[in-house]
Amino acid sequence: MKVLVVGGGGREHALCWKLKRSASVAEVICAPGNPGIAQDARCVAVAADDLDGLVTLAEAEQPDLVVVGPEVPLVAGLGNRLRERGFAVFGPNREAAQLEGSKSFSKRLMHQAGVPTARFEVHVDPDEAEKTIRSWGAPIVVKASGLAAGKGVIVAQSEQEAVAAARDMLAGNSFGDAGSQVIIEECLVGEEASCLFLVSGDTILPLASSQDHKALRDGDQGPNTGGMGAYSPAPCVTDAVAEQVLETIAKPIIAALNKKGAEFIGTLYAGVMLTEDGPKTLEFNVRFGDPECQPLMCRLQSDLGEVLLAAAEKRLDEVELAWHDGTALCVVVSSEGYPNHFEKGQVIGGIDAVEAAGTTVFHAGTALKDGQLVNSGGRVLGVTAVAESASAAQKQVYQALEKLDWPGGFYRRDIGYRAVGREEGA
Ligand code: AMP
Ligand code: GLY
Repeated sequence: MKVLVVGGGGREHALCWKLKRSASVAEVICAPGNPGIAQDARCVAVAADDLDGLVTLAEAEQPDLVVVGPEVPLVAGLGNRLRERGFAVFGPNREAAQLEGSKSFSKRLMHQAGVPTARFEVHVDPDEAEKTIRSWGAPIVVKASGLAAGKGVIVAQSEQEAVAAARDMLAGNSFGDAGSQVIIEECLVGEEASCLFLVSGDTILPLASSQDHKALRDGDQGPNTGGMGAYSPAPCVTDAVAEQVLETIAKPIIAALNKKGAEFIGTLYAGVMLTEDGPKTLEFNVRFGDPECQPLMCRLQSDLGEVLLAAAEKRLDEVELAWHDGTALCVVVSSEGYPNHFEKGQVIGGIDAVEAAGTTVFHAGTALKDGQLVNSGGRVLGVTAVAESASAAQKQVYQALEKLDWPGGFYRRDIGYRAVGREEGA
């Protein structure tokens, strides 16, 4: 079959890489892709948020399956537009994508469905938001309701910081429209995990567990980012925890969407906090995580094309997934300065040597300039290895990274530390 992948980041590179290695797939097209993706797919210069352009491309190419990587086109209704034209699509329609597109929608639906999550209130008025913050006290969490590329969440250590964040969001300063509603949330304590599911109508198929490192610096210090590294499996997600997340989080939220007539076809991503009172939902996303997708694709042994087509055609109940039983670990190399200002256009060398040292290098913010590979975004590379243990995978990635020739590149040195610590303690 012919598959069209929408997006151009590390997640989409991992999807294209895996699709190219799927026996069922004859051709992969990616819009817009990037120079790394170009090794695995034919890239077409249509942006991931250009819905008209993407519909025109699909009509010209007639793919058997369209896989939508990022949330922005899903929330804008790309799924609806392609399905109206008869395409098989992996990725939910606009109505179900609200689960990620609007945190107030998502929290209210969790509340209705009895899905465990932090206590919350939704506010549009800054004085009302302040009243809640003052009465609940710090630490407390303030979130912009709309899409903010992973940056619209403030875990405030003082009431003052929380009030300032809520006022700033509601004034439209930091997140524009996305901040016109704010969520005030109780602060949860525990270890975080990413629990992803393939969903098609009533069928919910858990993927292997994973864990992301959102903070910029070692030891989970510094500002939140889109994710500085990830690995799979996450040992904190025991079989019992996975079962609890499926039964108390994934099943009821999908049932609640179905009840609203918002059928979900795609990836449901539950960010969960493993608290003393059991797993609680931090957020839902309606797509694969980035960078979680990179280690997941490296561990997946099934034919990804067949699996995603089965989901798109509502035959997911026929699918069983097979995984490499070791650990896959991905370290993100970002541009020095990210998530704030950074210089673009720096030449990146040594990628072949990094791969020759036993890794797969997924591209995110890369571009070609005068025939040379340069950085063009905040998160730039995802260097990934699979090995029999987390320690072995971690060692393999960091040894390979010594071959990277990019002085302006930055990466954490401790990706996977919780899993490695558990292995060392075992
Ligand atoms: P979200 O985009 O809602 O997942 O939030 C981003 C990050 O903020 C999460 O990965 C957590 O680390 C943190 N966070 C979000 N909500 C809470 C909460 N209620 N309690 C503690 N930390 C939170
Ligand atoms: N890695 C977090 C996310 O994709 O939202």
